[in-house]
Amino acid sequence: MKALIPVLIGLFAVTAQAATPNEILAGYRAEAAKLNPRYQPSAELGAHLFARGFGVSARMPACTSCHTEDPTRGGSHVVTGKAIQPLAPRANPERFSDPAKVEKWFRRNCGEVLGRPCSAAEKADFITFLMRER
Ligand code: HEC
Repeated sequence: MKALIPVLIGLFAVTAQAATPNEILAGYRAEAAKLNPRYQPSAELGAHLFARGFGVSARMPACTSCHTEDPTRGGSHVVTGKAIQPLAPRANPERFSDPAKVEKWFRRNCGEVLGRPCSAAEKADFITFLMRER
């Protein structure tokens, strides 16, 4: 039994981390609503964030530079050439299921493309847009 305890704790830690795109969206939405109580997630703004060229980085001007213009399809990293699976959760059920992974990549990718962190509202808009794509 003693040997099982760390295994059980590990299992709980894993299940505690798993989330659905809706839950992750709800978290960002609540954070955005603290700044703007009238905030409503917008798929249109999310689509705009996805496709817009920000002009900060010459190599990766937009999210589409690596993720392509169709989030239901895979892309590839502009620098390393490494394949990237689709971002839309309907095309790739692993997407938006791990809050730590989502945060890590928003931080990195928004930093590179926008030259600043994305706001909670931008993240919620982005996920709303991706959840619409099939
Ligand atoms: C330089 C290439 C590149 C650009 C540009 C890029 N991404 Fe990504 N993105 C990646 C890679 C690599 C991963 C992680 C590998 C994977 O999960 O397939 C990733 C993963 C993500 C994830 C994780 C989703 C999940 O649940 O797995 C999010 C969110 C994301 N990107 C958002 C964005 C946003 C928003 C932009 C534009 C502001 C953007 N990305 C631009 C390369 C890029």
